[in-house]
Amino acid sequence: MFNNEQARLLQQKTKLFLDNINAAVDAVQMEDLREVMRFHEYQYYVLNNSLISDFEYDQLYKLLEKIEKNHPELITKNSPTQRVGSSLNEGFANVQHLVPMLSLENSYNADDLNDFDRKAKEASGLQKIEYCVEPKFDGASISLIYENDLLIRATTRGDGVAGDDITNNIKQIRSIPLSAPFSKYGISQIEIRGEVIMTKASFDKYNESLIQQGLPTVANPRNTAAGSLRIKDPNEVGRRNLDAFLYHVSFIQKSKLENQNPKDVIETHDGQLEMLWQCGFRSPNKEKKVVNNIDDVIAYVQEFESKRDDLPYEIDGMVIKVNDLHLQDELGMTSHHPRWAIAYKFKARQATTKLINVEFQVGRTGAVTPVAKLEPVYLGGVTVSSISIHNEEYIKEKDLKIGDTVLIERAGDVIPQIVKSITDLRKGDEQEIIFPKQCPVCKSELFKEDGEAVWRCINIECEAQVVEKIIHFVSKDAMDIKSFGDANVRLFYSLNLIKDIPGIYTLNLDEIGTLEGFGKKSIDNLKAAIEASKQQPLNRLMYGLGIRFVGETTAKTLANSVEHLLDFKNKSEEDLQQLEDVGVKVAKSIHHFFSNEQNIKMIEQLEQLGLQLKNTKKEAVVEGGLSGQTFLFTGTLTKLKRSDAEALAESKGGIIVSGVSAKLNYLVVGEDAGSKLEKAKKINTIKVISEDEFLSLIES
Ligand code: IVH
Repeated sequence: MFNNEQARLLQQKTKLFLDNINAAVDAVQMEDLREVMRFHEYQYYVLNNSLISDFEYDQLYKLLEKIEKNHPELITKNSPTQRVGSSLNEGFANVQHLVPMLSLENSYNADDLNDFDRKAKEASGLQKIEYCVEPKFDGASISLIYENDLLIRATTRGDGVAGDDITNNIKQIRSIPLSAPFSKYGISQIEIRGEVIMTKASFDKYNESLIQQGLPTVANPRNTAAGSLRIKDPNEVGRRNLDAFLYHVSFIQKSKLENQNPKDVIETHDGQLEMLWQCGFRSPNKEKKVVNNIDDVIAYVQEFESKRDDLPYEIDGMVIKVNDLHLQDELGMTSHHPRWAIAYKFKARQATTKLINVEFQVGRTGAVTPVAKLEPVYLGGVTVSSISIHNEEYIKEKDLKIGDTVLIERAGDVIPQIVKSITDLRKGDEQEIIFPKQCPVCKSELFKEDGEAVWRCINIECEAQVVEKIIHFVSKDAMDIKSFGDANVRLFYSLNLIKDIPGIYTLNLDEIGTLEGFGKKSIDNLKAAIEASKQQPLNRLMYGLGIRFVGETTAKTLANSVEHLLDFKNKSEEDLQQLEDVGVKVAKSIHHFFSNEQNIKMIEQLEQLGLQLKNTKKEAVVEGGLSGQTFLFTGTLTKLKRSDAEALAESKGGIIVSGVSAKLNYLVVGEDAGSKLEKAKKINTIKVISEDEFLSLIES
C-alpha cells in the first residue's frame, strides 16, 4: 500500500505535524495531514504495527478536525474524520447487490475434497487444477462497493439478492479504507465481499466492559460481530472494535480510458487478493496458499486446522477456490453455490471440564429438565458454563455424576453437548445426580407418563410454567410483541403486574412507567406492540397458546381448518386426525386443551380484550407443481437453511408436516438423519430424497 520511500516521507511529515501541533496549519497542508493519518490507520488496523501512540494519533485527529472546521468547504468524503456517522431513527434501507451473494457448498473430509476436484476436472476437461486455499472467517458477510476509488456503499448479505445498507456502521471499521486506489488497476467500480469479524482480544475486552457496566456478557465473537452491524448508533459500532477481511471480487467495471499494461490484468483469485492487499484492505493475502493439486489442498487445510486455536480470530474452516478466474467462469454456479469453490468445515471442537452441579428447570409444559453446570470452558468461540442433559435416562446412559470430568463438543452452530464422562479420572467422591420427586419451583409432585422420558409438573398454576407460557406467547414466532421479552415478563411477574396471558392486555403501563429504566419512549413502544399484536393472524395465536405438540406448522394447518378459534371446542379427536400433520398424539393434546374450562375462559377473555380470533387471513392455498404434497425435512441440510427449504416447498404448493406418518409424501434427508429416517423407511409410500433431489424436484 505504501512503499518504503512513501513510508519514510510520511513518518517525517508525522514528526513535523506533531512537533508543531499548536502552530497554525493552512488549508494547503490538509491533504498531507490526511494522508499521514491514513498511513497510521493502515499501520495500526491492517498491519497491526503502530508507529505512533494513541495520544499522538488523537492529536493529529484533533488538528485535522480544527482545520476542517475552519474550512468546511474543503472536507473530503475520504477524510479520516468522515467515519463519524449519526444515529438512525428508522430501519436500514434494503438495497440490491450488484451480483447475488451466494453461499458455499460444504465439505468435511478428504473424500469430499477429492470429489470436488474430480467434478471440477470432469467439467473442465483438465488434468490438473490450481487452487487457492484460504481461511474461512467466522463472522458476518458484507459487500462493499467502491466507485471512483471511494467507498459508496456497504451492505449485509440479507437474502443474498438484497441486503441492508450499513454504510455508516462499516465506516467505523478502521481496517476498511474510505477510499482505495482501484483506479490504478483501471477499475472505476468494484464490488467486493468479505467478512466482518471480532478478534478474540476485542471480544474479551468487550465482555470485560459489559461486566463493568453490570450488563450480561455476549456469547461469541461471530454473533457479536453480526449483531453489531445492525446497531443504529454507529458510535457504538466503533466502540466494539470490529475488523474485516475481504476475500472476493464479485464485480468489476473497467474505466473507459484504459491505458493498462496487459500484464497488469488480474487473471487469478490470488492476484485479486494481492490487489485488495495493495489497495489497503486486510485480505487473506498472507494466509492463503496456491497449490496445484488436491493432495496439497488437503495437507494445507489440515495444517491450518492444527493451528486454528493460535490465530487471533475465529475461523470455522477453509475455503478452496479454483485460482484461474477464466476457469471459475467456465465452471459457473448452481442456484446456490459456485462450482469453483468449496468450504472445508473443521471438525467439532472438544474440551474437557468439570461437572460441578445439576440444576432442574421447569419449562412451559411443565417438563423438568436437568441442566449441568460446568466449570466455564472456552469452546469454539463460546464460553460454555451450562449444558442441558435432557432427562433421567440420558444421565444414566452417559453415566454422569457430579464432580465428573466430562468431554464436551460443539460442531459449528450446534448447541454444545456432553460426549461422555471420563470415568478413568474419577476419585471416588463423585455424587449421583438425584432427580427431584417434587417440582423445584412449586413443590408439587412430579409425574411421568408411560413411555415418556420426561418428568413433569402438572400444576398449571406453577409459577415457572406460567412465566414460560407468557414468554412463549409474546415471542417472535408467536405473537411477536416486541419490547416485551423474557426479562420484562419475569420482572412484571415478580412485581405482581402480570399473572397470566390475558394480563398482557390489561397491563398497568402507568405503573410500569414509574419503574427504573422505563422511559416514556419504551412505554409507548410497549403499548404499540401490545396493541399491534391483537391483529396477529390466528395461526400465531394458536401457536402462542403453547399447546403441547403444536408447533408453528401444525398451528397453521389448525388455524386454516376453522372459522373461529373456539370451533375447536366442538372437534373430536377423530375430526382433528383428519387434518394433515395431525396424528393421534397431537389430536389428543389439542382436544385436551380445548376441553379444559380454564383454557376456554382464557380464550374468551382474549376475545373480549380485542384479539383476533376469527380466521380472517385464511392462507391462500398456493397452486404449484407440488400442490398438496407433504414434506418433512430431517437431519442437517448443507445447502439451504431449514426454514428456506420449507418456504421453497410451500412456494410450490407443498405442505410442511412435522412428523412421519402415512400422510407424508416426501422425507428430505440431510446429514446425520436419525429416527425419522428409520421410521420413514418402514412406510413404503414415503419417498425418501436427498437435499439435491429436493432441489431438482423444486426446479422441475
Ligand atoms: S468466498 C461466491 N471466502 O462463508 C463465493 N467466503 O459458508 C463467496 N466466508 O457466505 C464466498 N471466509 O460469508 C469466501 N475466505 C472466504 C470466506 C468466506 C468466510 C463465508 C462467507 C460465505 C460463507 C459460506
